[in-house]
Amino acid sequence: MSKKAKLLINNQEFDFPLVLGSENEISIDVKQLRSITGGVTTIDPGFKNTASCESKITYLDGEKGILRYRGYAIEDLANNASFLEVAYLLIYGNLPTEDQYKKFNDDIKSESIVDEDIKKILEAFPKSAHPMGILSSLTSALTAFNPTSNTIDYNRSKAELYETIVKVLGKIPVLIAWTIRKKNGLPLDYGDTSLGYVENILKMMFKKPNETYVQNPILVNALNKLLILHADHEQNCSTSTVRIVGSSHAGLFASISAGISALWGPLHGGANQAVLEMLESINDDGGDTNKYMQKAKDKEDPFRLMGFGHRVYKSFDPRAKIIKVATDEVLDDLGVVDPVLDIAKGLEKEALSDKYFVDRSLYPNVDFYSGIIYRAMGIPSDMFTVMFALGRLPGWIAQWREMRLRNEPIGRPRQVYTGENHRKYTPISNR
Ligand code: CMC
Repeated sequence: MSKKAKLLINNQEFDFPLVLGSENEISIDVKQLRSITGGVTTIDPGFKNTASCESKITYLDGEKGILRYRGYAIEDLANNASFLEVAYLLIYGNLPTEDQYKKFNDDIKSESIVDEDIKKILEAFPKSAHPMGILSSLTSALTAFNPTSNTIDYNRSKAELYETIVKVLGKIPVLIAWTIRKKNGLPLDYGDTSLGYVENILKMMFKKPNETYVQNPILVNALNKLLILHADHEQNCSTSTVRIVGSSHAGLFASISAGISALWGPLHGGANQAVLEMLESINDDGGDTNKYMQKAKDKEDPFRLMGFGHRVYKSFDPRAKIIKVATDEVLDDLGVVDPVLDIAKGLEKEALSDKYFVDRSLYPNVDFYSGIIYRAMGIPSDMFTVMFALGRLPGWIAQWREMRLRNEPIGRPRQVYTGENHRKYTPISNR
């Protein structure tokens, strides 16, 4: 196969090298495009056809429904690994040995406290504040309490980079647990670091004063799986945000804070909250799923079936397959009877056999099911995206670290200007 792409612009031919991925993906390297063509650019809104970087972290084949972290199938990891093992794998490239795992775990535990002044900032938020706004602000505020994490030269100081990474994984779960505790009117206590990472998060979120918190292994298993399934997803909107913010050499906390804001939107991580709100409003409106199927297909109607469709998965979302099984386990174990779940099942059944949805490859995505599990666990719907953020931390860290260690240039796209040509200022009295 030729290792070149040819481009013909106004009868002039230009050659561009091809970049080959390890799974034989082909990309046209246009790094020299502007310089050799005298300023020609490519335009690709939404980056639907643009690889923004080379990466060794996650492989995804949307047509075949394949997702692998560092070469390991998502099914294998979700069914067998712990979330922290997967975090280590994503960040450092290989599964940890027992010693590496113990050290990583211990270092994260020793960072599982935040400055007491963070409580004052949290207390200052009004009741109406959305937890994603709170989390993004508190994550940014952590920079103030850990100033070196924003200024170190990561290429020179691998030790400081490691320290910042374990701080993120130790401190952000505390912020998340406190956000939910404040919502539920519970005191802002620390967890119990003698527990596993996932068990500790559950206890930190839910333990009531003067009560012994009893772990439910089915919930622990489901949350461990959910966090693994969300841990990375190559160059999605929030990860691209983290990489681009970090490309200006902003620190890890600041970059992750920006990633949290990007994740918030309903077309990305906010979909899990939007799914539940949609199901509730269908229920309140009498539960007629067919009416909402018609609305979703009507091009005059802005309504979309939340939790269906994906930018890259065009056959099925492999994460949805795994989490559907865990959802059934959790619902059976907790004996949940909920009319909203019947609506979810009804919509899923109708959409899977509806020509509009089948023709456009619109299948339930991971967020269709994750919201259902979180609701059953007793997590308020505006906290669902916060749980997604918790899972995505290792991916954001791994991608940020890769970008910095590869010394990538600052992200700065071009544009095609379609506005007014040069015009002269006229004084206001003459307009
Ligand atoms: N309901 C109804 N129609 C839809 C939907 C939907 N959920 N999603 C896509 N379509 C239609 C869309 O109208 C278009 O139709 P046509 O070709 O006739 O104009 C076609 O399908 C292609 O849609 P698109 O908007 O061009 O696709 P996209 O790749 O730009 O968008 C998406 C992907 C996920 C933003 C979109 O499917 C969507 O809005 N889904 C609902 C929100 C959601 O569940 N998001 C969570 C994604 S999973 C979590 C994550 O990884 O972030």
